[in-house]
Amino acid sequence: DWNAKNIIDEQVEAIREKVGDAQVICGLSGGVDSAVAAALVHRAIGDQLTCVFVDHGLLRKGEAEQVKHDFVAATGIKLIAVDASEDFLDALKGVSDPETKRKIIGEKFIRTFEKAQRQVIEEAGAQGKEVRFLVQGTLYPDVVESGGGDGASNIKSHHNVGGLPDDIKFELIEPLRSLFKDEVRAIGTELGLPDEIVWRQPFPGPGLGIRIIGEITKERLDLLRDADAIAREELSKAGLDRDIWQCPVVLLADVHSVGVQGDERTYGSPIVLRPVSSEDAMTADWSRVPYDVLATISTRITNECRQINRVVLDCTSKPPATIEWE
Ligand code: XMP
Repeated sequence: DWNAKNIIDEQVEAIREKVGDAQVICGLSGGVDSAVAAALVHRAIGDQLTCVFVDHGLLRKGEAEQVKHDFVAATGIKLIAVDASEDFLDALKGVSDPETKRKIIGEKFIRTFEKAQRQVIEEAGAQGKEVRFLVQGTLYPDVVESGGGDGASNIKSHHNVGGLPDDIKFELIEPLRSLFKDEVRAIGTELGLPDEIVWRQPFPGPGLGIRIIGEITKERLDLLRDADAIAREELSKAGLDRDIWQCPVVLLADVHSVGVQGDERTYGSPIVLRPVSSEDAMTADWSRVPYDVLATISTRITNECRQINRVVLDCTSKPPATIEWE
């Protein structure tokens, strides 16, 4: 029967055997899978593991700090954090097409990760050590989805952390390859990771970049981060975290509508709430969030985010709509 402790013991032994005294590198995205994979590998080989966290500036409020501080405090993992947010903003200037955004973010991400990787390889080399392995937080459903050939995964070009640059050849360590999300969470908890990381909702690699419909700017990101933080806080307070699969909060940046805030006429942008329930994100239904929770979120967002004068609910299932808007 399934038991997080047993899986950890098995994996720890398998990882030690595979790695020997080589060095290992792991990209952290801020998500559950890479965090648990890293913690598991760290349990097995300690300081032979170096984690790299590329902050693309498209994360939600507080997430970068959670990786850099809470995750490191909980595990003692060696972490290199790269703040590349300015770089990403520059590269995305003037771009509103969704696939172009995804492509730019994906490529920039790999380049930035690669640069940090080279640094780790060089530093290890200077000490006569060799970096031979790369950890990836691949889960069982990822294996099935990318090999499944039903075309669903090709609808949008998905980008995930730690994609392998062509000219660096590592062997892969994928300790979560046979596991489902709930099992990964159980293992994360058993390994002592904080709830905020273990119970984090799925979040796309391109981050808030594909939740701003229109061009991505610093101001729009900050605005969306504030609105998103309010929605998350209220959904949590209402105890809905574990019922809702995820709730993208989307800024329709190029849409304007007339409002009245205070005594003034405003011409602001709408925020879309997209709460969905799902088993695996392949299909989803829109979540019937209680009206009073929606009301609180709407009131708070329009009060606290000056440029938002309208909050709307996306009540479409998947299919026909995807979960993300881009
Ligand atoms: P869609 O929008 O295709 O999303 O219904 C399905 C699930 O995948 C997440 N998603 C991504 N995850 N990289 C990821 O790792 C990506 O590029 C990406 N795009 C979408 C989305 O949040 C949902 O959980």
